[in-house]
Amino acid sequence: MSRLIVISNRVSRPSKGGEQGGLAVALAAALRQSRGIWVGWSGNVTEKFTGQIAFNEDDGVKTATIDLEEQDVDEYYNGYANKTLWPLFHFRIDIAEYARDFEGGYNRVNQRFADTVSPLVEPDDVLWVHDYHMIPLGQMLRRKGHRNRIGFFLHIPWPPTRLLVSLPHHSKLVETLFAYDVVGFHTEEWLESFRHYVEKEMGGSVDGDHVTLGGRTIQAIACPIGIDAPEFIAASKGEAAAKMQEQVRKSLQDRAMIVGVDRLDYSKGLEERFNGYARFLKDNPDIHRQVVLVQIAPPSRGEVESYQEIRATLDALAGRINGEYSDVDWTPIRYVNQGYPRDQLAGIYRAARIGLVTPLRDGMNLVAKEYVAAQDPEDPGVLILSRFAGAATQLKDALLINPYSPEEMSDAIGKALRMPLEERKRRWQAMMQIIEEQDVSWWRSAFAMRLEDAHKVREPQE
Ligand code: G6P
Repeated sequence: MSRLIVISNRVSRPSKGGEQGGLAVALAAALRQSRGIWVGWSGNVTEKFTGQIAFNEDDGVKTATIDLEEQDVDEYYNGYANKTLWPLFHFRIDIAEYARDFEGGYNRVNQRFADTVSPLVEPDDVLWVHDYHMIPLGQMLRRKGHRNRIGFFLHIPWPPTRLLVSLPHHSKLVETLFAYDVVGFHTEEWLESFRHYVEKEMGGSVDGDHVTLGGRTIQAIACPIGIDAPEFIAASKGEAAAKMQEQVRKSLQDRAMIVGVDRLDYSKGLEERFNGYARFLKDNPDIHRQVVLVQIAPPSRGEVESYQEIRATLDALAGRINGEYSDVDWTPIRYVNQGYPRDQLAGIYRAARIGLVTPLRDGMNLVAKEYVAAQDPEDPGVLILSRFAGAATQLKDALLINPYSPEEMSDAIGKALRMPLEERKRRWQAMMQIIEEQDVSWWRSAFAMRLEDAHKVREPQE
């Protein structure tokens, strides 16, 4: 079995457990299985870039990280990745910023990662590059002469062509994807938008999974990421989960709990969620005091203005709704700006009658899957899910809603609270089946198989 090298901006610390996104957890699990190495940014900022690699092993996962200098972080991470690509790829061209420095910094840092990875690569290794921070990395590695199989996976949506063309030098960026052997997306919708762009904007051609541009053919596939289902189910039955579930249950005093867990990000639709919940309170005065929304939202990317703005908006909105509806012994929203370890989160999910996952646009969304996996099979809660999350293509037995509509959200909350046990069980079982079948190991092997197939030895690109 070939050694796997994973490259992504953020390298998770598996032993740190919970305070990381599902993606980080999924990758750690995949790497452990293949005895591979994970390369990325240490998260540290130094005065001057040194290129020095720090090797570590954390809970069975080998890591190789580099520090970046301040200008790198400003232009690459805060800049091109999170002020340009993230909003654009989440359909928010109104807040995307296009600056030449960002693009320059992005390419410079990707080159730094290419320089770091290159000496570690052995001829038989399979390389797997992740997410929007690293799109051009494959091309840079090819230019260094590496003929290995290299795959790329995008964990966020691929925007419609009409939006993508607003990015200066868009075709230059997309062209770099043709250095990979396989390019993966979570859903057919994102894949379809990619193909559309290549055909209509670049004059490329599509034949099934094969996409060709200027004589180069890659495989472009949809392959939905899953969770480590056995691990999460076990966690939900463990001691830490039980303790947390009990702590939450006591505090609820027989009230039904609705839970949301999201990085504090404008793409997650938190403002719309609060408004939808407020609408529910307005529509259902008889249910006041019987329900509590617990919204867990650890702050994220705090140096970026749009994140500071959404944080301020949510602070004000939560305060306003609580001010309007609270009583001396009831607060309708518990708004929590901290993360929890995964095993405790599993207990929080299990204590909740409703999981409310309402992103305005999301590549996949693993919280939806984790919420379902954590439920008690004898008395499962109900998942309310945005139709705009990638997960909605798989979890069709959730209550699917349009998150922009406060009425739909309000109606779904009412329906979920009234849903009979039999229906809850039926929906839960149907969702569990897919979550267990297409879990993170399935995802990894499905993508790895495609990469294995990509036998053709590629010529290094000039
Ligand atoms: C999303 C992205 C990941 C990213 C994560 C956390 O899930 O797809 O690439 O690591 O958010 O964001 P952060 O900026 O904190 O790494």
